[in-house]
Order: sequence, then C-alpha cells, then structure tokens
Amino acid sequence: MEAIQTTSTADDDEQTTFEPRIVAFLCNWCSYAGADLAGTSRLGYPPNIRIVKLPCTGRVDPLFILKAFERGADMVLVSGCHPGDCHYTSGNYHARRKLPTFRSLLEFMGIDPRRFQMSWVSAAQGGKWSQVVADITALATELGPFEYFERIRDNRN
Ligand code: FES
Repeated sequence: MEAIQTTSTADDDEQTTFEPRIVAFLCNWCSYAGADLAGTSRLGYPPNIRIVKLPCTGRVDPLFILKAFERGADMVLVSGCHPGDCHYTSGNYHARRKLPTFRSLLEFMGIDPRRFQMSWVSAAQGGKWSQVVADITALATELGPFEYFERIRDNRN
C-alpha cells in the first residue's frame, strides 16, 4: 500500500497565509469620517487596509494609484462623498469620470480592473464602510497577490 504524503509545500503555506495589502485613498469629509465612525462604533472590519487621507476624491491623481500598486498594494480603493455631497461641489464628479477611465487603462496594461475599486461612503455610514472593507478584502484575497510590477522588475534584472 502506498503512503499518503501530508507534507505541505511553501506554495501551500503562502496560499493559506496570504493577507492582501489594500491602500485606500479617502476624502477627509465623508469616507474618512465614516471609517472613523466605524472605529468609534466598534464595528469590526479586516485590518488589511491602509488609509491615505486626502481633502477630496477630486485630488486623487491616477499616478497615486499606480504608485500604490508599484509599492506593493494588492488592491486600491478610492472612496469619498456621495455624488452631490462633495464639500468642494464637484470633486467627486471629476473622480467619477476620471478614475473609471484610468481603470480601463489598467485593463489595457493587462491588470485585472477589479484590483481598483471606488465607493461612496458618507460620514454617517460607519456600517457601510465596514461592509465595503470586508467585501474588497474578500475580493483581494480571491484575486491573490498582485505581482505585475515584481515581474517587470525581475525581467529587468
Ligand atoms: Fe468628499 Fe469631495 S469632499 S469627495
């Protein structure tokens, strides 16, 4: 009778311990306050997210997103005030138009566009923030490590 091998490989260990790194660009007035509310309301959400606070989603330059990916993010989120509620009147309208175009460019580069997400979370929506983070963490885990820039670096060396 043949013995069954139960040893795990390094790949198995990496697969089971993968914790995605998610960079979130949040506007100060709505989503950051919503995330703060989630914290003060003691709503739990996965700890995989690293928040960068900006005045408005209109301030998000697509290069910020590319840089986050290049520096090791597995997923990037931009979140701000609901359309019509931007504290600078139309910043989120600019983001809503500009960033999906950037997402198409990511797809053109061969990057799964699901790695870039947008959401609208108000200062009163701590629960929604908690759910958004849980959902994108689950998606990032499903997509696995983002190795696009690593492969480029390896090819150069
Ligand atoms: Fe929140 Fe503009 S101030 S999106």
